Amino acid sequence: MNKRSLGSKERRPRSVSVLGSTGSIGCNTVSILENQRDQYQVIALTARSNVKVLVEQALRLKPRMVALSEERLYKELKQELSGSGIQVGAGVDAVIEAAQLSADWVMAGIVGTAGLLPTLSAVRNGAIVALANKECLVSAGDLLTKDVAEFGAKLLPVDSEHNGIFQVFDFDHPAAVEKIVLTASGGPFRCFTKDEMMRVTPEQAVLHPNWNMGQKISVDCATMMNKGLETIEAFHLFPIEKRQIEIVIHPQSVVHSMVSYCDGSMLAQLGTPDMRIPIAFTLAWPERVSVPVARLDLAEIGKLTFESPCEVSFPALRLAREALELGGVAPAVMNAANEIAVQGFLDRRIGFLDIIKIVDRTLCKYPTLRAKTIEEICEVDSESRRLAEEFMVSS
Ligand SMILES: NC(=O)c1ccc[n+]([C@@H]2O[C@H](COP(=O)([O-])OP(=O)(O)OC[C@H]3O[C@@H](n4cnc5c(N)ncnc54)[C@H](OP(=O)(O)O)[C@@H]3O)[C@@H](O)[C@H]2O)c1
Repeated sequence: MNKRSLGSKERRPRSVSVLGSTGSIGCNTVSILENQRDQYQVIALTARSNVKVLVEQALRLKPRMVALSEERLYKELKQELSGSGIQVGAGVDAVIEAAQLSADWVMAGIVGTAGLLPTLSAVRNGAIVALANKECLVSAGDLLTKDVAEFGAKLLPVDSEHNGIFQVFDFDHPAAVEKIVLTASGGPFRCFTKDEMMRVTPEQAVLHPNWNMGQKISVDCATMMNKGLETIEAFHLFPIEKRQIEIVIHPQSVVHSMVSYCDGSMLAQLGTPDMRIPIAFTLAWPERVSVPVARLDLAEIGKLTFESPCEVSFPALRLAREALELGGVAPAVMNAANEIAVQGFLDRRIGFLDIIKIVDRTLCKYPTLRAKTIEEICEVDSESRRLAEEFMVSS
C-alpha cells in the first residue's frame, strides 16, 4: 500500500496508528485525529500502563487493536474493552504486534529506546513514520535510515526544530546548504549558576518555560541533552555533514529552526510553541490542513532574541557532539545512560548535575564499536543501562 500512497492524492482516508498514544505527543495526535475523524481510520493505539486514557481513546477512535507494554495489565484492559470488538494485547511483543499492523501513517510517540523495535516495525511496513521518538534515531540512526530506504518508508520529523528544517530545506539542492541552525530555548535553568543548578528539584526541572511535554524530554531540555540528542537526530535526518549543524539559544521558541544557504539567505520556520503544528504537518503531508492553534502575532511578541549556548554550564552539548564524532555505538551508549540517569533524578536518587556526570562516565567506559544489527544495538543499550545504574549507586 504505502509506497503507492506516499505523497499521492488518492490516500484518503489515511489509515493511522499512534504508538505512545497516552503521552504528550500521543494525546496531541489523538486530538487532531478526533477533529477530522472522517479523514482517518485508526488501526492501533499503544501505551505502557495508562489503562484509563488508552481505553477512553479506544472507545472514541475505535482502533482495530490496542496494546500496553506492561503485561500485568492485560486482564484489566481486556475487561474494560470487552464487547467493543477491539483486539487487546499486553506485553512488549503485543506493542510490536500492534506496530506491525499495516497502516499508511504511524506516529512514533513512545519515549526512549523502548520505541525502537515498534518504530522499526512501522518502517519495515513501508509506512510514513512521523518520528517524535528521537532516541531511536540517536541509538540506531544508521540502521534505521538504511531500513527506511530499503523498505520504501518515509521518515517525517515531528520534533519542532527538525520539522521546521524539513519545511525549509532544499532537498533538490543539498549542496547549496551551508548549515542548519537548531534553536534551543535554553530550558528553565538557562540563567542559573552551577550552585543553583546543584539544588534544583525534579518539579523545577519538568517545568519548561514554553512547551508542555513529558517528564523525560522536559528534564532533557533542562540539562540541554535534548539539544544534544537533536544534533544527532538532525545528522541522520538531513543530507549534511556533522560540522554543518549549529545550535543557537532562542528563549522565545518562536523560530523553530533555520537553514543557511550559500548565497547568504537564511530560511526559517516560525510558529507558536504548540506540537499540534508539526504533528498536523506530518499527518497531512504532502498537503496541509487547518489546525485550531493560536496564530503567531509577531507585533505582540515584539522581540526575538538569540545567543550562543554555553558548553561549560551545559556539558551535555559537548558530550553529544563527542558521541556523534566517535560514531559507532557511542550515541546509543550516551542515550541509554541518559535515560537511566534522568529516571534516577526524577526518582530523587541523584542530583541534577549528576545526570550528565553519569552519562560521561558511561560513555568513557565504552569501547567504540560498530553495531551491524539492531540486536547488537539492543545489547549495547542494555549493557550501558547496567553500567549507568552501577555509577548511579556509587555516586
Ligand atoms: N512532548 C513533546 O512536546 C515532544 C516534542 C518533541 C519530541 N518529543 C519526543 O517524543 C517522544 C514522546 O515524548 P512525550 O513527551 O510524549 O512522552 P510522554 O508524555 O512521557 O509519553 C510517552 C508515551 O510512551 C509510552 N511509553 C512509555 N514507556 C514505554 C514503554 N517502555 N513501552 C511502550 N510504551 C511506553 C507512554 O505510555 P504511558 O502513558 O502508559 O506511560 C506514553 O504513551 C520522546 O521521544 C520525546 O523526546 C516530544
